[in-house]
Amino acid sequence: MKLEVFENSEIVDIEVAKKIIHVIKEKPNALICIAGGDTPKGVFKQLIDAQKNNCCDFKEVSFISLDEWVGISDETPGSCKQTLYDGLYTPLNLKESQIHFFNGKAESMIDECKQMDKIVAEHDGIDFVLLGIGMNGHLGFNEPGTNTKNSSVLQLSPTTKEVSVKYFNKELPLRYGITLGMSQLTQAKNIVLMATSEKKREIVNLTFRGEKTNQVPSSLMQGTHAILCVDEEAGRDIK
Ligand code: PGA
Repeated sequence: MKLEVFENSEIVDIEVAKKIIHVIKEKPNALICIAGGDTPKGVFKQLIDAQKNNCCDFKEVSFISLDEWVGISDETPGSCKQTLYDGLYTPLNLKESQIHFFNGKAESMIDECKQMDKIVAEHDGIDFVLLGIGMNGHLGFNEPGTNTKNSSVLQLSPTTKEVSVKYFNKELPLRYGITLGMSQLTQAKNIVLMATSEKKREIVNLTFRGEKTNQVPSSLMQGTHAILCVDEEAGRDIK
């Protein structure tokens, strides 16, 4: 895993967006996966500006979701789907056929996983994945102690449930998450892990310098071609 530390979070947004745009220029029909959560929101803005300024053409790109809370979907503000649609897909004017998103309310979560695995396989893997790092090191909903291959439904950890309040302004009765699997993420052709702000300092340190263990899923990116992009606050201990 390579480390890139930038002066502040806005520069992280700009540099991460550049990497995504580079991949799309090389492969206009790339399969791109961008995490929900707060961390990538500045990257959304950079990508939307790039389209406005004719610096990037998203017409042939496909987007795949990273994860979703089981039991909710885009009718719930704070869901991954609502975050990605409102923040990125709708402003980019994407067609529905370009978007493949986990339905957290699907009748069969097994079918939902199978469907997503089929899409990944049909595209011959993910060309670019942008991941946030959870406070406990989770990637998507690959929670501590798990190490999944393909799409899976996993129990949410107590930390994730606690953190969820910031997305929904209240605690929803959420117990499971549906997520792309760790192997699908580690095998993506380009992987960026992004973390900003002081509160991510400890988990960034564990991700990069700690033991490689499924107790900290983000540490499983050690030894891969992933790039860890952080601002100075998050990267203070590892520079
Ligand atoms: P955050 O979430 O970007 O809102 O900090 C990261 C995550 O839980 O993966």
